[in-house]
Parts: sequence; structure tokens; C-alpha cells
Amino acid sequence: MAAWATTTLALYGAGGAAVAASLFKLRRRLELSQAKHRSLAGHSRMARRLAALVPFYEYDEARFFCADGAPTDVAQCRRAGFERLSALYKTRFAESIRRTAEAADIISDLQFTGAYRVPFQFSRYTRKHLPSGAFMQSTEGVTITDLDGNRFYDLTGSYGVNVLGYGFYKDAIEHGAAQVRELGPVLGPYHPVIVENVKLLKEISGLDEISFHMSGTEAVMQAVRLARYHTRRSHLVRFCGAYHGWWGDVQPGIGNPVPAHETHTLKDMSGDTLRVLRTRRDIACVLVNPLQALHPNASAPSDSALLDSGRRAHFDKDAYAAWLKELRAVCTERNIVLIFDEVFVGFRVARGGAQEYFGVRADLVTYGKTLGGGLPIGVVCGRHELMKRFRDDRPADICFARGSFNSHPYVMGAMNEFLHHLHTPAGQAIYQNLDGTWNARAEGLNARLRAEDLPVEVANLSSIWTVYYTRPSRYNWMFQYYLRAEGLALSWVGTGRLIFSLNYTEADFEQVAERFVAAAKAMQRDGWWWSHPELTNKSIRRAILKETITRRLFA
Ligand SMILES: Cc1ncc(COP(=O)(O)O)c(C=O)c1O
Repeated sequence: MAAWATTTLALYGAGGAAVAASLFKLRRRLELSQAKHRSLAGHSRMARRLAALVPFYEYDEARFFCADGAPTDVAQCRRAGFERLSALYKTRFAESIRRTAEAADIISDLQFTGAYRVPFQFSRYTRKHLPSGAFMQSTEGVTITDLDGNRFYDLTGSYGVNVLGYGFYKDAIEHGAAQVRELGPVLGPYHPVIVENVKLLKEISGLDEISFHMSGTEAVMQAVRLARYHTRRSHLVRFCGAYHGWWGDVQPGIGNPVPAHETHTLKDMSGDTLRVLRTRRDIACVLVNPLQALHPNASAPSDSALLDSGRRAHFDKDAYAAWLKELRAVCTERNIVLIFDEVFVGFRVARGGAQEYFGVRADLVTYGKTLGGGLPIGVVCGRHELMKRFRDDRPADICFARGSFNSHPYVMGAMNEFLHHLHTPAGQAIYQNLDGTWNARAEGLNARLRAEDLPVEVANLSSIWTVYYTRPSRYNWMFQYYLRAEGLALSWVGTGRLIFSLNYTEADFEQVAERFVAAAKAMQRDGWWWSHPELTNKSIRRAILKETITRRLFA
């Protein structure tokens, strides 16, 4: 064959191979796009870009009460209710508010949480007239008392840390400290109490090895780092909306100033996601926060995002368990490390956490929050071969992880008290009929709300609850202020997350339910849930979009 013919053939061959490779890449790219949730939470880069374009604007006093186009009499009714509530807050919570105002300028966190309790258009006016106290002085049973002596039923759950009741953690910290006092806060060498902790954690997690860190965020960082090291692959898969702490790689999108290049955010409970896991070669691990079962593909609900009544939640245990089983199978098939991030749900839904609750085993599990017995903690439990931080045949190729305060003796002491308690009859009793108890409480409350024709309901994953609203409204975020006025303590995300400790008795819960209904009735009476056939979630969103664009273009 002539040389030119050979060259031409070779060129055709190379061209064909290049086209095939491009088509292959394109197909993978399309599969990845299909596996992204259609919401902005599923498109982190776009969300960041759009967020940067949203201009600040706010409602003046008149518009504040009729942003939904309510007639004058309704707006007046709202204003009267607001003023009554404002007077009540300023007298009843006077000292707590005074101290908070003093500290707000110098504690950055207070400025942030203060600004993001309600949608920004309403934020400044609400802050001025319904200031929230950030200080508390004591706890007892399931109640918490502020600086003015007001006792609230605690629905904050201390971000989920409080599983067993504050009294338990006070004792755990005290007795744990007593266990290690002779050694004191020595770091590096261990107090022997750690040995029992790792044995108990091994048994609870069903995994071989344990590492200790200082927060849930760090435990997640380490789990992902180990997965990348051992698989020699780059990407982590997280599910749309899931929170895994505030490390950049697991928190792409709004809130993180730089893009997370090695993170795929995919649809939860979706065959499209399974297809991506089956076909891509860059995936080191899949990170699951089982709390997402309550609201798959949606971010942790916060009242600052309550622009309309679109928030929904529903927990289907069987469906989520079936999904986790599918995920487990694909991860096994593809040698992808399956990580359960149980920082929130661990020890709350079952003694053996989400693995036991859903009947699915993970390769690595992260725990935190309550496991520290009331002190800061993050823990990774994993299979031996995944936990190893060096290679026997490549001494310079290590997976580094340190932290000055890891395995702090006082934390190990308090953890020991916590883990011991789980082995006592009292510790085991808390998990008996746990879901039955909390589901009945949620259903009972919903029945009462429905009977009163109130447009609010709750959904729950065991003792983790969220509130949603059944009639279109722009004012659902006001509900948190009515709840506080009734003596229910909420965290800064308001009605988005109510967290109960498991020591709530029926009598305690009855108090909460009564107050909850009373708050909703007061809110209804004050006209905030005024409705009109033309007021729909869609019309509300459209109106806000129009305001935003107008502000952006003409202000
Ligand atoms: C599932 C999950 N992972 C990680 C974290 C981060 O834990 P930490 O706040 O201790 O850093 C949280 C905190 O809420 C969490 O809920």
C-alpha cells in the first residue's frame, strides 16, 4: 500500500477514535446532567452566580403588612398583632434582649443568625421590633430558662446534640471529668478510658477501627479524604440538599466563596444517580446524610427561605431503606466507598444509628454531636483497610490527619459516660417504640391543627420534626415569633427544624402541643394567614421575582 494511503487510513482511524471518545465523554456528561436535581440546590454553580445577582431591598412599614396584597383591614389586624407581640417581647424578654444587643456587634455569629431568621425583605423591621434574645441561664428537664426567668420548652435540641436530656449531659460532663482529672488536659498520650470507648464504638457501628476528631465537619473531611486516598479517585458524590458540615467540598454553592471542583451533587433517590455511579470512573465515595429521608433533594429547611408555602416534607422509611439498599449494591459493585454521615441521626433513631434503623451497612460512618456526652466531637468508624493512613509498600504516600484536640481526655471521659449509659436498661429503654411514640405525637398534633382549620402541619423523622404550611402565604415565618411567645424555644432556623430530646414525657409533649396550637390560633386571629384565590405559591414567587428584577434594573 502506498505511504499516503497508510497515512490517510491512520488519520481516519485517529479521527474515528477521537470522535468516539468525544461521543463517549458527551454521553457521560449528559448522564451527569440528568442526575442533577432540577432545583437550584442541584446546580451549585448556577445558584452561586444567581445569589450574587440578588439585590437587597426591603419593605417599608406599610408594605410590611400587606406584601401579599391583603386589604387594609387585614393589614391593620396584622399590625395590631405585631405591635402586641413586640410589646410582649420587649417586656418579657427585656434582659435577654439587652444583653444580646450589647454582644451583637462583637459576636459575628449573632449578626449572621440575627439577619437570617426571616426572609430578607422583612428582616430589618422584624429584628427591630421582635428582637430575639440569644442568652439563656439554665436548663431543667426539657425546659430552658432565659435571663428574664422565662421557661421555654426546648425544641432546639442544641442542633441535635441533645438526645438524652440536658440533665444527662450535665452529669456526663461532670462524671467524665472526674474519670480523667488525675491526668488532666494532656494531649498526645491517651487516657485509658479511650480503650473502652473504641470497643463500644466498634460494637455499635459494626466496623473495625475508630478515629477521633473535634467536630462533625472534621470527621466528614477525614472520611472523604480516606475514601479518595484508598480508591485513588477524585470525586465525592453528595445528594442535593444534604448538609454535611461546612467544609468546602461538601458544601458547594451558596455560602462557599469558591466552587467545589471535585464534588458531584446528584439527585437523591433516583435511578439517574445510580446510572452515574455505575458508569463514571472518578467517584471515590458517596456521602449520605440519612436525615434527607425527611425531605429528599431539599436543603435543611430554614424560615429565612419561607418565601411562600412551598416547603414540604414526608418521611417514607421503607422507600428510603430500599434506596439505600440499591445504593449499597452499586457502591459494592463499583468499589465506591459508601459513607453514612450519622453526625445528626446517630444514636437518635436507634442505638446502632441509621445502619440499624434502615438495615443497610456502610463502609465508613461518621458520628458526632451527642456522642461527645455534651462536649465537641467528631468520629469516623470504618473498615480496617479504609481507615489505614499509609501504604506498607509506599512509605511516603500517606493520608495525613491530625488535630491538637483529638482524643481530648475530658471529651473521652464524657463520651464514656454516654456510651455506658446506652448499655444500661434505662439507656436501652429509650429506643423502645421510639418511632411509634413520636409518630403518634406528630399525628395527634396534626389532627388538632386540622380540627381547628389551621394551615400548618408537621412532618417527622422520629424525634426530628419540621413544620410546613398548607395555604399559600408570605408570612409563615411569623409563626416562629408566636411560638416563642407561647414559651417554645426554637433555634435560629425557626420552624424549619424542631428537635425533641427523648426524655419528653407525654405530659411535657402535651404542653408543647397545646402551646403550638395556641400560637397557630393567635397567628390566624391576627390575619397573617389571610388567603385569596389569586394568592398561590406561584403568584407569590412571581411577585418576588418581579420585585427583584425591578430592583436590580432600576434601583
Ligand atoms: C449530618 C451532619 N454532618 C456534619 C455536621 C457538622 O458537624 P459539626 O457542626 O459538629 O461540625 C452536621 C452538623 O449539623 C450534620 O448534621
